[in-house]
Amino acid sequence: MIRRKGNLIKMDTPHTSLVLKAEGDGAELLYYGKTVRFGPDFSLLSGEDKRLLFSSYGSVDFRESGLVVLLSDGSAATRFSFVRVRRMEKPSALPLPASYGEADTVCLEFADEYAKLRLYLYYSVFSDCDAIAVNVQLTNAGKKPVRIRKISSLQLDLIGEGYSLVTFDGSWGAERTRHETPVNGTLVCNESRTGSSSPFHNPFVMLERKGEVYGFNLVYSGNHRETAEGNNRRQLRFLSGIGGLFEWTLEAGETFTAPEAVMTFGENRDEVTSSMQTFAAEHIVRGRWQKRVRPVLVNNWEGTYFAFDRERILTIAKASAEAGAELFVLDDGWFGHRDDDTSSLGDWTDYAEKTGGLASLADEIRALGLKFGIWMEPEMISEDSELYAKHPEFAMRPMRREPARMRNQLMLNLADKQVQNYVVRAVSNIIVSTKAAYVKWDYNRHITDPYGKGVAAGEYAHRYILGLYAVLQRLTEKFPLVLFESCASGGGRFDPGMLAFMPQTWTSDNTDARERLTIQEGTAYAYPTISMGAHVSASPNHQSGNRTPLETRFNVACGGVLGYEMDISRLNDREKEIVKAQIAYYKKYRELFQFGRYYRLEEKDGTGGFVFVSADQTKAIAVVTAKEKVTGQANARYRLKGLNPQYDYIVKPREQSNYASCEEFTAAGDMLMQGGVPTDLFCDTENDTNSVYARMLFLRRAPARR
Ligand code: GLA
Repeated sequence: MIRRKGNLIKMDTPHTSLVLKAEGDGAELLYYGKTVRFGPDFSLLSGEDKRLLFSSYGSVDFRESGLVVLLSDGSAATRFSFVRVRRMEKPSALPLPASYGEADTVCLEFADEYAKLRLYLYYSVFSDCDAIAVNVQLTNAGKKPVRIRKISSLQLDLIGEGYSLVTFDGSWGAERTRHETPVNGTLVCNESRTGSSSPFHNPFVMLERKGEVYGFNLVYSGNHRETAEGNNRRQLRFLSGIGGLFEWTLEAGETFTAPEAVMTFGENRDEVTSSMQTFAAEHIVRGRWQKRVRPVLVNNWEGTYFAFDRERILTIAKASAEAGAELFVLDDGWFGHRDDDTSSLGDWTDYAEKTGGLASLADEIRALGLKFGIWMEPEMISEDSELYAKHPEFAMRPMRREPARMRNQLMLNLADKQVQNYVVRAVSNIIVSTKAAYVKWDYNRHITDPYGKGVAAGEYAHRYILGLYAVLQRLTEKFPLVLFESCASGGGRFDPGMLAFMPQTWTSDNTDARERLTIQEGTAYAYPTISMGAHVSASPNHQSGNRTPLETRFNVACGGVLGYEMDISRLNDREKEIVKAQIAYYKKYRELFQFGRYYRLEEKDGTGGFVFVSADQTKAIAVVTAKEKVTGQANARYRLKGLNPQYDYIVKPREQSNYASCEEFTAAGDMLMQGGVPTDLFCDTENDTNSVYARMLFLRRAPARR
């Protein structure tokens, strides 16, 4: 809800309030935190140093500014004064994706009369989660072009000390590992310069100190930059927006729309996670799959890599159907003459010698009772391809300079309309000819040679992303029934921008259960677990070499949307039975796994895990884990979360082939959360490995005691 009183504007989400004062030469943030009443005393919050909603270059505030515009007279200082505030519909950010759904929106308009610029800040509040979406637009109302050097999507000025910037960083196979950096007297920066949101630094960050956690994200898949700058006046400035090389020419009369930002406040990390997950699940993910249970899939990649033929695929598919899987995904290697990663990207035509006919292979897989899904990497081109021979100009490279290659491939110049059309055609043809129900959309390298004919270097990276979004918009509109899963060498592009088109993202190529716990936990800080692809793969694990019991691999993979990525036809009979029982168990509780409210179990003494709780709190599934050898966990306890303290629960450990069976027992919700359960209740140290231990517990409400 948004209300106004004189020059004050108050925005309320269910548990937070944001109060602004807008007048004269600008606008000031008075308060952002836990809900407060609209009292008469807000002027007390106005400090010696104003907390600004945006800052422009060339003022006496010498901290990093959110807006830098080079004017046609050669100057670069801009000064905006407040013009007016209006209630209105949430603006469209097209061609950028943005949050949708019922929201209350207010627009604050500012003008720099000298520079002939208009700046619009839109704040939208939702009634079902503590998230505020912010949209920024800059209009050139003058007669000459200006150049935007920087335009932040969000600025939040705070007063106080002791904040840390929490970031989710990593690399291939180690995405979204949490780091905390204190913000003291200088600037702390989280930036991606790869052209994508990247595995290195996710756009989701938090600013926190005890009892106070702010979460921020950007609905954008390209270069981004988040900074937190502290100083000895106890000021802290947070900025988030497009990063990397950026300089945009804004012609007379044009408007630039910055990617949407979202912010939330909570008293602890769990509250921020809940708001961010709800925001993404309810206001970012859209379309047919938003509220639908997701199929259990089998993907052949780690089972075969490039070395498959029709028979091998059908053998795996048959075993998948027998195990109870619902979707078979044919991964890389089915097109052109692709037998390794040196060729054929761009030639999205059947490699018939291998597939024996792709369309009929898809039919045969369907005849087994499975849906058919397919891997593509539509943004790429191999130099060894027919496409490159015919259209070398489609590649993103200055023609006479030797480009940097990653995974032996180049990228397509998606900033170009003709290339966009080609990609839409190529993907459409495959979906139509194979009747695919699912597409895994991969992206296996970063931008190194940003170049497109006629596109200024400083505009390229953003124009690429706009081109990508235009393609995704067309394809998702054309194929509303298809389930798209985004992938970027694993989880290299896990962001709200991609989620607006593709409801799932492959979380990481690292399928090692122990390491996955960290990656999945980091991802779930901001993204719904139903958007996280999580697969059971072979042991020893192909990435880490660790050995992990099949049951443990399953328990960990249930932290996301379950799949199997191995040649399950080669499992022995006992293992096949285990997999069958796992899939049946998952399907039985699928609603809870996929739509239950997620809670992280604090990592303590090497133990941790996660819980999914039903909306009415009568059911829950917990996965309790220990990363160290369980015998070393003397006196460790799992404290569950999200249960109803007033209810009693019957706790039933899932029967696991690698542990002695464990009787169900009844315990009070408050005891399970406050006191916790001893870790050794579930473990059987003799059978344990020293990789990781995980046990799954199903809880249901016990009949009330009298
Ligand atoms: C990337 C993906 C993998 C797989 C391979 C195929 O690495 O992340 O899951 O699809 O490409 O080449």
